[in-house]
Amino acid sequence: MTQALYRKWRPRKWNEVVAQEHVVQTLRNAINAERVGHAYLFSGPRGTGKTTTARLLAKAVNCLSDDLSNRPCDECANCKAVNEGRFLDLIEIDAASNTSVEDVRDLRDRINYSPTDGRYKVYIIDEVHMLSTAAFNALLKTLEEPPPHAIFILATTEVHKIPATVLSRCQRHEFRRIPVAETVKTLRGICTEEGIEADDDALLLISRQSTGALRDAISLLDQLSSTGKSINLELAQNVLGTATNQLVFDLVDALVNNDPALGMVSIHKALDSGSDPRQYARQVVEYLRSLLLMQMGNEKAIEATRDVKTRMHAHSERIELNRLIEWVGLFNEAIGDLRTTWQPSLALEVAFARCLNPKSQPVNQSPETEIPANVSVTHKVDGPTAKPVEVEPRQPETELREKAKAAREPQPEPEPAEVEATGSEGSVTTQDVMAAWSRIRAEVKARRSQAEALLNSQRLVQVKGGTLVLGFQSETLKSKMENPENIEVTRRVIYNLLNADLPIQCIVVIGKDASGTGETSIEPDGLVNTAINLGGKLVHRD
Ligand SMILES: Nc1ncnc2c1ncn2[C@@H]1O[C@H](COP(=O)(O)OP(=O)(O)O)[C@@H](O)[C@H]1O
Ligand SMILES: [Mg+2]
Ligand SMILES: [Zn+2]
Repeated sequence: MTQALYRKWRPRKWNEVVAQEHVVQTLRNAINAERVGHAYLFSGPRGTGKTTTARLLAKAVNCLSDDLSNRPCDECANCKAVNEGRFLDLIEIDAASNTSVEDVRDLRDRINYSPTDGRYKVYIIDEVHMLSTAAFNALLKTLEEPPPHAIFILATTEVHKIPATVLSRCQRHEFRRIPVAETVKTLRGICTEEGIEADDDALLLISRQSTGALRDAISLLDQLSSTGKSINLELAQNVLGTATNQLVFDLVDALVNNDPALGMVSIHKALDSGSDPRQYARQVVEYLRSLLLMQMGNEKAIEATRDVKTRMHAHSERIELNRLIEWVGLFNEAIGDLRTTWQPSLALEVAFARCLNPKSQPVNQSPETEIPANVSVTHKVDGPTAKPVEVEPRQPETELREKAKAAREPQPEPEPAEVEATGSEGSVTTQDVMAAWSRIRAEVKARRSQAEALLNSQRLVQVKGGTLVLGFQSETLKSKMENPENIEVTRRVIYNLLNADLPIQCIVVIGKDASGTGETSIEPDGLVNTAINLGGKLVHRD
């Protein structure tokens, strides 16, 4: 198998790191001055260069070049050994798959041995927020008195989960999302080197879709180039699925036309097809913001294809500026609310409903703009300090559409639908679970993030004989998922969302394949493809 593009294009020298100048400059200064710290914490969104930078630092401190400013030189024996993954003094621990205390204890025992090949033993602990409390404590002991030859580089996407005691012992560096323009430029460079033909419009679409994660952008390019065709906008749209974009248009259409049913349907379609609710909300905000820029005469600042701009114009002409400002504000708030709500569609629904009910207009005076009956909003429309909102469990889309329709025509309040405990277990299929998968994960995450991380690492989801079968890559992951609390929280969330009480069985589904490359041995039974089509991603761990 050929190497994935994002691995092949992992920066080998400092100047290849994109858009993280603030971090790179500080680290280079430290190398030049031979004043490298003993503990670093790299935080920031995935795919922005944390692991890459950690390896560059590991390389630089062990590089044999005489010229300090040229470390890592990428040519000496040590640099080459790191590149090839055979440098013994670089130890990488993936906390997501080794949450046990033993690993860190083990590390503590071995840390006092001097480096074998280089000046420093460098420990990179990736996804460090996944360590258990006990493991953190063990790590802390080591961080308190690191031997002079040891350097720790911790990396995390969730810095708020790192204990303050650990934070205070590390030099912190925050990685930022890669701006669209820099992503496009990087992709263009890779295309040139790899002989990939791609239009500017297509690269722009890929870059926007990757929302600042360069790794994702490169992977998307990889995926598109593997079709063997020249990459134009149409191909990119087809492969990446512009479905989400369409649902953003639909939602704004609903706002412009004061059409509650279409709005609700768009929101639920987006979530049911596996979109991340925050991501969807961001796309809506971004779109509305573009309309704002357009109205303020700053169209040049909008990064969008010509086709999209035409559609934006049509919307822009029909909205007053002050309403637009309000809409941007409300959906922007929703992004924040989505972090804390247990009901992923709720914040979007409420934002949408509030957009249609401007402050001056009490909710009930306009039956046309009432929100569907399955959402009972109990807060005042004009207060930023909204009271909690009660919502009944989500209902299937068809039912929802009915309700939304009903809400448009003034009608007596329907009785809230009862959720029956007996439910429809028998009829829940693999497809149903897959379709709700991102929502299941979002809700599990809100309750128990460890369980969500495990769900995220699953390689197989299947409903078989009324049981939900989850496949994991290893016995370790499987047994972690089997922790009764993880099972319970997942089962409960599924019950709430799908109204079905599915027993959960965990199995191991992956082994080394015959070629020994360690690639997945899952048969392409369509399930993995379905998952990918629904917005899932295959996660390759380095
Ligand atoms: N800032 C960056 N500059 C250059 N390439 C990057 C950058 N961030 C990510 N990449 C690309 O994405 C891949 C994965 O990046 P990685 O460092 O593993 O991200 P993280 O650890 O933040 O999730 C790299 O191999 C590289 O191809
Ligand atoms: Mg990483
Ligand atoms: Zn070197």
